[in-house]
Formats: sequence, C-alpha cells, structure tokens
Amino acid sequence: MLLFPASGKPEGIVLLSLSFSYLRRAMTVAKKEIVMSGIRPTGYLHLGNYFGAIRNYVKMQDTYECYFMIADLHSLTTHPDTRELRDHVHRVLAENLACGLDPDKAALYCQSHVPETSELYLYLNMLAYKGELEKTTTFKEKARLQPDNVNAGLLTYPVLQTADIILHRARYVPVGKDQEQHLEMARNFVKRFNHRYGEIFPEPIAFNFGEELVKVPALDGSGKMSKSENQNATIYLSDDDDTIRKKIMKAQTDSGPKEPNSPKPAYIENLFLLMKLVCDEAMVTKYEQDYNQCTIRYGDMKKQLAEDMVRFLQPIRRRAEEIRNDIRYLKQVMEQGAEKARASARATMELVRQAMGLNYF
Ligand code: TRP
Repeated sequence: MLLFPASGKPEGIVLLSLSFSYLRRAMTVAKKEIVMSGIRPTGYLHLGNYFGAIRNYVKMQDTYECYFMIADLHSLTTHPDTRELRDHVHRVLAENLACGLDPDKAALYCQSHVPETSELYLYLNMLAYKGELEKTTTFKEKARLQPDNVNAGLLTYPVLQTADIILHRARYVPVGKDQEQHLEMARNFVKRFNHRYGEIFPEPIAFNFGEELVKVPALDGSGKMSKSENQNATIYLSDDDDTIRKKIMKAQTDSGPKEPNSPKPAYIENLFLLMKLVCDEAMVTKYEQDYNQCTIRYGDMKKQLAEDMVRFLQPIRRRAEEIRNDIRYLKQVMEQGAEKARASARATMELVRQAMGLNYF
C-alpha cells in the first residue's frame, strides 16, 4: 500500500517519520502527570461537590492521567448498614457521568474493586501512629457524632485515603479545603515509606487550578452545602425544578441596604456567590449596582437566580436519571474503570513488595 502518495516521499522515510511521531506521542502519554480523587457514596451530590470537585475532574481528564474513585470502603467507617450502598454507588457514578466525566478518558472505578488498595493500606498502617491519627480533625468530629462506633477504620481513615492516592503514584489530588489535613498526613506517610524502603512514591498535593478553592455556601448562611445535614439549604444535583425554586425563594434576605455601597451581610453575599456560579456576568453586575444604589429587589434577584439554577441543573439531572436507569452501561463503565485502576495498582504493588523486601525468592 502506498502511504501519502502525494508527498512523494520514499516509503521508508514515511514509515520512519511515522514511527518517530508514534514514539513521541507514546512518550508524552507516558509523561502525563497522574491525578487521583475519591468521593464517598453517602448521601446525594450537591452544588458544592460540583463546583468544588467534579467540575475540576472534568477539566483535568484531557490533560492528565486520571483516576476517579467511588470510596465505598471509606463509607463503611460511618455507614456500616449497606442496604442503600448499591443505590448510592449507582447514583454517584451516574451523576459524575452526567456532569461530563468520560470513562474512555479517566478511570472511573469503585474502591472495593481494587483489592490492592487493602494490601497497601495494611502496609501503611504500620507507618501511621495512634497519636497523630487521634488528633485528626475529621476523626474527632466523627467520633463525637458516633460515640458508640469509634471503630479502627474511622481512626485509620486517612491511611486508607493515602493508599487510594499513592496506589497510582498520583501527584495531584483535586479536593476541597476540608481534605487538606488528610493530604498533609498522606505526605507524612509517603515520606516515612520512602525514607524506610526507598523512593517509590511522589508526595501528593491538593490541586485547584490556581484559583481559590470554591466554597459553595448553604442557602441559610450557615456554612457550606452538605451531603447529609442542612438539606433545605443545600441544592442537590437531583433536586427537581420546583424544589430548586422553592429552596432559593426561601433563602434569607432583609429589607435591603439603607446606605449606598454598604457591606453585604453574609446571607446576601452568599446569594451573589451563587449567582456568579450560574448567572450571566451582566446580570450579576446589574444586581451589584442595584445593591450599591439601594434599589435592589431581592425577590427579583432570587427569581433570576432560581431560573438560572434550573437552567443549569435540569440537563444534568435528566442525563443522570437516564444513565442511572441503564444498569448495563453503569456496570460496563465500572468494569472498564476497575481494569485500568487495577493495572496501575498491580504495577505499583510490584514495586512496593520489592522495595519492602517481601519477595523471598
Ligand atoms: N475522604 C474524601 C472525602 O471525604 C474521599 C476520598 C477517599 C478521597 N479517598 C480519596 C479523596 C482519595 C481524594 C483522594 O471527601
């Protein structure tokens, strides 16, 4: 067969340059930085998850080698009753796909489908100290919330999270601010491992596109949107149009500023923050001006926000519902993801066992 007959190049040169470009591409593929993140299948995904994490996953899947995981093992530390687990796993996966994650680009998988995770977790547990684990903020908080079930899994939660990340020798971890302490602990475990057994792992760092980490405020001015608490002040990706409208129209306001250019109270600032996420810039500017000139009508502003929010979320919700009803597709995506994740995990575990001297023959 004649390749590129129009170029007039002798065939050998064409083949040579073809294989060079193949090589170059293979090398850039191999050099892609590795990204890993996880999300627990507890509760429902909300706007905070979308703007704080998922949107970044979608942006990263083209340029990085990405591993995005459903942390079902982590959920056992707080949700030992597994009756609803299957439903939650399906929903989280469907919602992530509906937001634009592509199973042909990123590995989308379930933590328990990669048994190497548990092996690495066990080795890392020997390098994690009781004192530091007990001091972890999330541990203290969860121990307070479930005093009758302060289990060892809860204590070693950050160790399991470290295993998830370094199993792929990932460097970047797109997560929200609340995970920073876990990442700091991951770096400590990695340093200890590398120091004791040899430089196997890079130190993982939080990744946020150089912007401030986006915090999506709750509608009642009481902190962030949440998967399980505060349901009326949180907008979920699964909320129907009317629920979205009702939640936004109920958000706290007041009779408006009395003096031009006043500072905004937190609950008003939050409404503006939400507008910036889903409304046109011109619309935000208009309401900023109205606020500064004391002519703002909060009712109108909330209506605008509600309609733009509906416009933003409706296609995601519809797509997620469609995907969730296609069990065969979900299963196929999970299998494909697990295969990619396990290939990467197997390669790392070979290195780990070798480095630790667990190969006796
Ligand atoms: N701990 C994370 C959370 O609660 C979820 C998680 C599990 C994770 N494993 C991870 C996040 C690995 C990043 C990397 O949100």
